[in-house]
Amino acid sequence: MHDPDCVRFLQWALPRLRMRWAGFRRVRRQVCKRIARRLGELGLADTTAYETFLEAHPEEWARLDALCRITISRFFRDRRVFEFLGDEVLPDLARRAEERGDGEVRCWSAGCASGEEPYTVAMIWHFSARENHPGTRLRVIATDADERLLERARRGTWTEGSLRNVPPPWREQAFERRGDLSLTAFLKDPVEFRLEDIRRRLPDGPFDLVLCRNLVLTYFEESLQRQILRRIAERLLPGGALMIGIHEALPAGEPGFSLWVPGPGVYRRNRSGP
Ligand SMILES: C[S@@+](CC[C@H](N)C(=O)[O-])C[C@H]1O[C@@H](n2cnc3c(N)ncnc32)[C@H](O)[C@@H]1O
Repeated sequence: MHDPDCVRFLQWALPRLRMRWAGFRRVRRQVCKRIARRLGELGLADTTAYETFLEAHPEEWARLDALCRITISRFFRDRRVFEFLGDEVLPDLARRAEERGDGEVRCWSAGCASGEEPYTVAMIWHFSARENHPGTRLRVIATDADERLLERARRGTWTEGSLRNVPPPWREQAFERRGDLSLTAFLKDPVEFRLEDIRRRLPDGPFDLVLCRNLVLTYFEESLQRQILRRIAERLLPGGALMIGIHEALPAGEPGFSLWVPGPGVYRRNRSGP
């Protein structure tokens, strides 16, 4: 399929899925390849024929929606922001959990791919933040719309390349070599994976920390971003943290959050607000 055909098709289809073209511009090639494969399966000649097919078969929109999922992730993605999480944010959240007296820091990783993000939080907690908070536990709920990714996450094995950013001393302790590299049980235990489409369902909360990175604010249209952010705000404890991707921004004028410190994409849930 020629790139201009695919671009024209995506610019037509994405708004109908409440997604934004700008988020797909750089990563469109993998989506275009999947769409080309789908055209082959359906025996359709081109994207114009696919548009007609979509209009005649509304159930195909769910299929196209799944083809548009970008699934790239890695451990310690944007390492600087995870350093900030370990040095500043998790200790602050642990102190708050102690003051509350429930002894649990509760996190949610939204769009967790194959577990790289929630397990990164588990590692930072285990190897660094928990030291000063021995009576406090970490619990992470991790959700994604793709069951295959979640299966991989539960299995907990990766190839060397995905672990590039993991600090070497932690890598030694966190993974055992059994063919691929397997995450040890004590890092898997705090993380629970759930199949959930964030547009339809969010875990109940309340949470101290929500990681919503490289999904909602990149690929979804602004009105959907605002809807989901409002639901996230309802689930975050006052003073809790929202972590977004380093290339992402909250929609202008979005109430409820203030930047933790200028720089990395971490916001604090305001004490008042929606
Ligand atoms: C680009 S990855 C980001 C992974 C991780 N948050 C990170 O920043 O490295 C986006 C993830 O969101 C998932 N996803 C896409 N649409 C979703 C939806 N509607 N609900 C939940 N997860 C979704 C994809 O399957 C994918 O695993």
